[in-house]
Amino acid sequence: MHLAIDVSWTQVETTWREPGARVGRHYPDVGLFEDIARTAERGLIDLIFFGDSTGIPSTWKGSIEDAVRYGVAWPRMDMSPWIVAMSRVTKHIGFGLTYATTFMHPFYVARLLNSLDHITNGRLAFNVITSQRKADAQNYGFDELMEHGQRYDRMDEFIDVCRALWASVEPDAFEWNRETGLVANPAKVRAINHEGRFFKVKGPLSVPPSPQVVPVLIQAGGSPRGTRTAARFVDHVFGARKPIPAMAKQRAEVDAALRSEGRDPGKVGIIWSTQVMVGETEAEAKKMKERLIDRVPREAVGAWLSHNTGFDMSTLPRRFTLRELNERIVAANASPVGFVQQLSQTLGHDGEITLEEFFEQGLRTATSYATTVAGTAAQIADYLEERFEGAGSRGGFMLRHSQAEQIEMLHNIVDLLVPELQRRGRFRTAYTGRTLRENLAV
Ligand SMILES: Cc1cc2nc3c(=O)[nH]c(=O)nc-3n(C[C@H](O)[C@H](O)[C@H](O)COP(=O)(O)O)c2cc1C
Repeated sequence: MHLAIDVSWTQVETTWREPGARVGRHYPDVGLFEDIARTAERGLIDLIFFGDSTGIPSTWKGSIEDAVRYGVAWPRMDMSPWIVAMSRVTKHIGFGLTYATTFMHPFYVARLLNSLDHITNGRLAFNVITSQRKADAQNYGFDELMEHGQRYDRMDEFIDVCRALWASVEPDAFEWNRETGLVANPAKVRAINHEGRFFKVKGPLSVPPSPQVVPVLIQAGGSPRGTRTAARFVDHVFGARKPIPAMAKQRAEVDAALRSEGRDPGKVGIIWSTQVMVGETEAEAKKMKERLIDRVPREAVGAWLSHNTGFDMSTLPRRFTLRELNERIVAANASPVGFVQQLSQTLGHDGEITLEEFFEQGLRTATSYATTVAGTAAQIADYLEERFEGAGSRGGFMLRHSQAEQIEMLHNIVDLLVPELQRRGRFRTAYTGRTLRENLAV
């Protein structure tokens, strides 16, 4: 079983007022991130993950005001320099960085990730996303979000270009021969001459190949189109939290898509996003969980939900069905993932819901209350084992928990949960790979 830690929203969003939150002058202190990296490596964790969205949420009421006021999905920095700092105080743990192929340019990203793979000595993963957020699109020259299928067409081409660039300088191209004065052999450094629908890139990449050559590639598209693109290139898929039968279904869909690409499904894992709270006792864990839903204003919930679905929830009628909501979200070119999908699984597509009920459920989701499983290390290990087996025993979990208790919870994961999983023979007792890709092998 592989374990990642999701540090995407450390200290921000709705739980920053809870005891133990490191806000104010401690955020964004680089020392905080170094602490997280050291602690996670002590627990032999595979990967520290940083998700991203680059615009301040503006979907709710068409304005950034409530997001700014309540700290929803902001502040948020480009984590690449933070990864450098974290990599200097660790040796083995990997780092997952997120960029949107809808907005970035593949030459820039291929070159940046090559540099990061060098500096981390082969510990970099790239979470390849399209972005489903208009606020992000508007910072990159678009008025509207590109259509869903087109976003994935662009991702296909983006990754083709990156891979061609990463292969454009052969591993033994550099000679640094003092006798002959030869730096590199021109026969081993080749232009890629890419001309496609979205990009025109001559190449080659102007750098030596990095330890992994290609960073570990992860993608989280949950739709059939997203899955098709993932199957072309991923080392691992990120999966959203869902009931075990739905996990098994997604696993089967990913496997079928991989087979269509002529790839071996046995070698590609799904890493499932999972919210846990581990305590010394069940009562302690449950108490921490109860604190999650305190003091979160409805506007913050609205801004959070609207941002994460790309749909303005302030426009909802007093009563509606989740099928209607899904149709509106799709019509807005957003992605009906996460909250709305989870709610449909619980209530059914045609169940009618009032606005009040919707926001009450939303509060529980925005704060991770609804999805957080709280318990002792043994209880959480049981929970993870059952899900791991139910979803084909390939991959693992990305643990998310209350942002405010990030540090406290990380200690509990490292000192309580990891030893329990090791006792059960489910988790490594030492890092054995030289690179992240080797450590993450299925
Ligand atoms: C574990 C996980 C991590 C994700 N990380 C991000 C992220 O950092 N930024 C982002 O914009 N979307 C993120 N997403 C959303 C996906 O990239 C994708 O848009 C979503 O799953 C919808 O799939 P679809 O585009 O195929 O409809 C993540 C999804 C999952 C399940």
